[in-house]
Amino acid sequence: MKRRIILGVILCSMLISGAYIWAETDAHKAAVAKDQARQKVIDQISKNFMSTPAADALLLRMLIQSRKAQRGIEVGTAVGFGSVNMGIGFERTGGHLYGVDISEKMVAETRGNIKKAGLEKTVTIVQGDALKVLPKLEGKYDFMFIDAVKSDYFKYFKAVENKLLPGAVVVGHNAIASGRAMKDWLDYMKNHPDWEMVIVKATRGMAVCYKVR
Ligand SMILES: C[S@@+](CC[C@H](N)C(=O)[O-])C[C@H]1O[C@@H](n2cnc3c(N)ncnc32)[C@H](O)[C@@H]1O
Repeated sequence: MKRRIILGVILCSMLISGAYIWAETDAHKAAVAKDQARQKVIDQISKNFMSTPAADALLLRMLIQSRKAQRGIEVGTAVGFGSVNMGIGFERTGGHLYGVDISEKMVAETRGNIKKAGLEKTVTIVQGDALKVLPKLEGKYDFMFIDAVKSDYFKYFKAVENKLLPGAVVVGHNAIASGRAMKDWLDYMKNHPDWEMVIVKATRGMAVCYKVR
């Protein structure tokens, strides 16, 4: 009798772990298929000359994922190449990305690409001048990607500085190619005791900043 009970318990646990492994494999396959479908959307996005290069966009996504960022801001979306790449990262962290672009045409294209990628629940695009929209944003943020008018980076940053949480990551694009135009912002980040900054020699140079406290 005792032996039968032991055998029954062993059999049940084998069946349960088998079903668990089966379900896990299915979930993994579904996740890989979703990533592949989204990569097709990314490949099809008609990139205009202003779009973030693919390697830079992937680095942004990795930063979002490793930071487990929850609330991000993108200043300047163009056709949404960066928004879709970062949106995938925010979907994985359970966070949300808010993008701003001044051009109605760009906003329409970005929203269309976000829809194609199935990221409407994770990415919200606001149309307007970032210098007017950013001061009105509510709540706190832990990620920011600045990629609009290079000489206005300091103004975009200042507009949300007090909304950036300790541990926030702020990335300024084109920090090498347009370093002179954004010198005021780069100098501020470099010399501020609460921020660490490194300029990554990605395609066009990215100033990656971390808020220590
Ligand atoms: C370099 S592109 C952005 C590329 C995009 N981040 C990407 O990942 O592909 C610059 C964008 O900034 C937008 N822009 C320029 N001035 C702006 C402003 N004051 N407020 C918001 N967006 C602005 C332009 O319309 C343009 O789409």
